Amino acid sequence: MKLKRFLKSGAVAVGIAVTLASCTQTQTTSPQDILTIHDEEINQIISGMSLEEKVEMLHSKTIMSSEGIPRLGIQEIRYADGPFGIREEIGDMFRPKGWTIDSATYFPTGSALAATWSPDLAYKYGTGMAHEATRRGKDMVLGPAMNIQRIPVGGRTYEYFSEDPLLAGALAVGYVKGVQDEGRAVCLKHFAVNNQENDRGTVNAIVDERTLREIYLKPFEVAVKEGGAWGVMTAYNKVNGNWCSENPYLNNKILRGEWGFNGMTVSDWGGTHSTMGAALGGLNVQMTGDTYLGLALIDSVNIGKVPESVVDDKVREILRVRYTVRAIPENEANIEMASQPEEQRIAYEVASKSVVLLKNENNILPIDLNKVKNIAVIGQNAVLSTAAGGMGAGVKTIYEISPLQGLQNKIGNAATINYAPGYKNYVRSWGPPVPNPNNAETIDEAADPAFVAEAVKIAKEADLVLYFAGTNKSIETEGKDRENIDLPVGQNEIAEALIQANPNLVTVIISGGPCDLRKVNNLSKAMVQGWWNGLEGGNALADVLLGNIAPSGKLPFTFPLKLEDSPAYAMGTYPQKKEVVKEEDVFVSQYRKDDIKKDSDDKKEVDFSAFFRRPVNGPDAPYSEGLYVGYRWFDSKDLPVLYPFGYGLSYVDFNYSELETNKKSYKADDVIEVSFNIQNNGSMEADEVPQVYLHRVNPSIDWPNKELKAFSRVTLQPGEVKTVSLEIPVKDLRYWDEENKTWQNDMCDVELLVGSSVNDILLTKKLSLIE
Ligand code: BGC
Repeated sequence: MKLKRFLKSGAVAVGIAVTLASCTQTQTTSPQDILTIHDEEINQIISGMSLEEKVEMLHSKTIMSSEGIPRLGIQEIRYADGPFGIREEIGDMFRPKGWTIDSATYFPTGSALAATWSPDLAYKYGTGMAHEATRRGKDMVLGPAMNIQRIPVGGRTYEYFSEDPLLAGALAVGYVKGVQDEGRAVCLKHFAVNNQENDRGTVNAIVDERTLREIYLKPFEVAVKEGGAWGVMTAYNKVNGNWCSENPYLNNKILRGEWGFNGMTVSDWGGTHSTMGAALGGLNVQMTGDTYLGLALIDSVNIGKVPESVVDDKVREILRVRYTVRAIPENEANIEMASQPEEQRIAYEVASKSVVLLKNENNILPIDLNKVKNIAVIGQNAVLSTAAGGMGAGVKTIYEISPLQGLQNKIGNAATINYAPGYKNYVRSWGPPVPNPNNAETIDEAADPAFVAEAVKIAKEADLVLYFAGTNKSIETEGKDRENIDLPVGQNEIAEALIQANPNLVTVIISGGPCDLRKVNNLSKAMVQGWWNGLEGGNALADVLLGNIAPSGKLPFTFPLKLEDSPAYAMGTYPQKKEVVKEEDVFVSQYRKDDIKKDSDDKKEVDFSAFFRRPVNGPDAPYSEGLYVGYRWFDSKDLPVLYPFGYGLSYVDFNYSELETNKKSYKADDVIEVSFNIQNNGSMEADEVPQVYLHRVNPSIDWPNKELKAFSRVTLQPGEVKTVSLEIPVKDLRYWDEENKTWQNDMCDVELLVGSSVNDILLTKKLSLIE
């Protein structure tokens, strides 16, 4: 009877996932338990399956699906990128199928969502992703992307959340619950230690176990244990010598053994490396191809090298997800446009709370339209789309409001807006460059005098200049790190020309990761970090610039003064020397005939010879800075930064007072209950994100100077005072004891530090942790 749920198109699929989740929640002890409630039935099914039938489920069926059990009407698992918009329908070689109903909501990218510091917004965001996945008939969203941002140049910094594990984990938990409460599965990616894009298919991250546990694995741990994630994507790279897709330590011991993960793992696309390794090292599904978990696996089982019970376990884990996520029959999917107004509203809300005000001399912002009647908008980043591109994370968006359009929408006739591109656009070309007078040939090309002259002309006539600088999707992308964090295509020179023309210069940075802003910061009266902020990004930004809402985003990572100050550079461990022959990026080299053979339609003759080279040997990446990643480094070493972690101004001032805790000394099982007051001293509604850091006064082992331990987002009316109450379980203050391979307490005196960024501590209180 229950098999009805899995019937393919034409049959009636019973909606169970959400109700199932809610009615079993009370009886379960871990969010992972929901996956095992059908184990008995699943075991019965497995006992009736042939080895061939089982192995068919362990590799890709198409480029974005893996097989179910057709004989029983159990539908395949359909995957969708993720992480910030459901990807359009694609066929062979990732070619779009050209559908018209698959335009999605482009949600703010990872770093923008993270700048909200709001797990509640991450939850809503997750629900939005799930609704669109459902409309598209997809089961598993390939997201959230949640690795720690270790290096400022990281190609996927914009996809990831934070340099801090607590913030990254809290956002991931929100995202996961949002998606899964609406009946779709997540796929946490990329497990684990995928912190650079250069050589991502081969690099060997060498990380000590304490750092691994406390920093790099922590967000995944909470997303599995608290969020209850049903899927995990193994990363391309190696960790301490083993590929992530065949890493018994990561996948079997920690993920399944210690964290109690009951779901399924899929390799990153092209990231499976061997049959025995993947079979015994914790991989459920080879994506893509069947080279390793196909016929070769059947042979390995037949000669007794891989026990059939291992295959059974893998099938069981996949079927658990299949049973928990309602299979959507083909005749229910793709009948209305993927993106609907409800999700577009969520995208707006997230964007509006993510914009970070970095500097605001003489309160030049918000723009006062009673005085400012002529605005010069300079810079192609005011008009360029940020939705498409970036490989897997590109979104075919239903629309996208650019910053310029947002300003036009919100200002209407109240002021004149003149636009000039200011600089040429740098577009990385995969083939021979297509000549375009608006495009720069190199990323560091000097400013074009004609472009500068045009910009200066309209800047001179204006009351205010809004200069849009930053990067684009060619510069920050999967598959390649940036070479540096310099502003590209002569953007600094243009700022110099603009300030000569008009002293009222406001610079808005449109980028996913940090840029070297020393020059523009000095020249500009105000600075705003505007992110890659989704399809409503332009409207949200304009609302902030005009003061319709107060800015409330906070930096989820440090903006260093200069790249060389950051830990991996200071330790000389990044970039790695190219001792090995440069291979193609794993994504380019991964496709095999067997992927294509299996894809149902869109067959075209392709010359595959170029795609058969598989990268194998990569550089070692020693994580010698240990725990001292991001602000932990700058803060502990007392190094100046341009803007610190957690930083962001508002149009109002807040007053912090009355820090209290429920006790003065705490034992291992206690929870530190912290409370303090925040008052909005301004004349408009505003949100503030108070942060609680912990400093160890007399520890017995080495610790960073401060570590984020709690945070909140509060909305305050003018003059309003609110009490913020937060909890810090003492068990969350433990460290990983490498010798005894366990979590240990370091009972010592500590200081609670409450503030509005890691460098702006406003209240402190001493406490003791005691045996
Ligand atoms: C990326 C993944 C993505 C996958 C499928 C890979 O290259 O690393 O994040 O989900 O492609 O598009």
